Amino acid sequence: MCGFVPLRTRYFDDQLRDAVRADLRQIVILAAGLDGRAYRLDLPPDVSVFELDTPDLMAFKAPVVEAAGVRPNGPHSVIGVDLREDFGPALLSAGFEPAERTLWLVEGLLPYLRLADIDLLMARVGGLSRAGSRMVTDER
Ligand SMILES: C[S@@+](CC[C@H](N)C(=O)[O-])C[C@H]1O[C@@H](n2cnc3c(N)ncnc32)[C@H](O)[C@@H]1O
Repeated sequence: MCGFVPLRTRYFDDQLRDAVRADLRQIVILAAGLDGRAYRLDLPPDVSVFELDTPDLMAFKAPVVEAAGVRPNGPHSVIGVDLREDFGPALLSAGFEPAERTLWLVEGLLPYLRLADIDLLMARVGGLSRAGSRMVTDER
């Protein structure tokens, strides 16, 4: 894990930077956990970041971010959801634009889900993704 996690982090960072260079302006981080990319990658201010994880995790994260004194550069939404459920309505309510190309980051989530839930998740992501969108994920 000591070797794997830093490499995975770097890989996802590189993929995010590549997507921003390719002019994707909407990033959805599923199972964000304590993901700090919205704070540490100095994203352009017109890039929107949506972070989704369980309500409990997001309630834990908020004071951690507050204490760190960091702020995202651009629009940023935190959504507490169970990703086995349909998260689309909550994402749309938070300002997600399905007409925009999106980068989806799914890092470290799939081992926690049953295969049937992964199928549903992927179908929901597909339904919210216009052509040219991207997903970066790791294996179950
Ligand atoms: C190993 S952590 C990965 C966190 C982050 N993506 C990273 O790589 O550091 C797994 C994350 O998946 C979230 N998670 C697991 N099952 C979930 C579910 N059904 N709905 C939403 N989030 C879930 C957990 O709350 C946790 O934050």
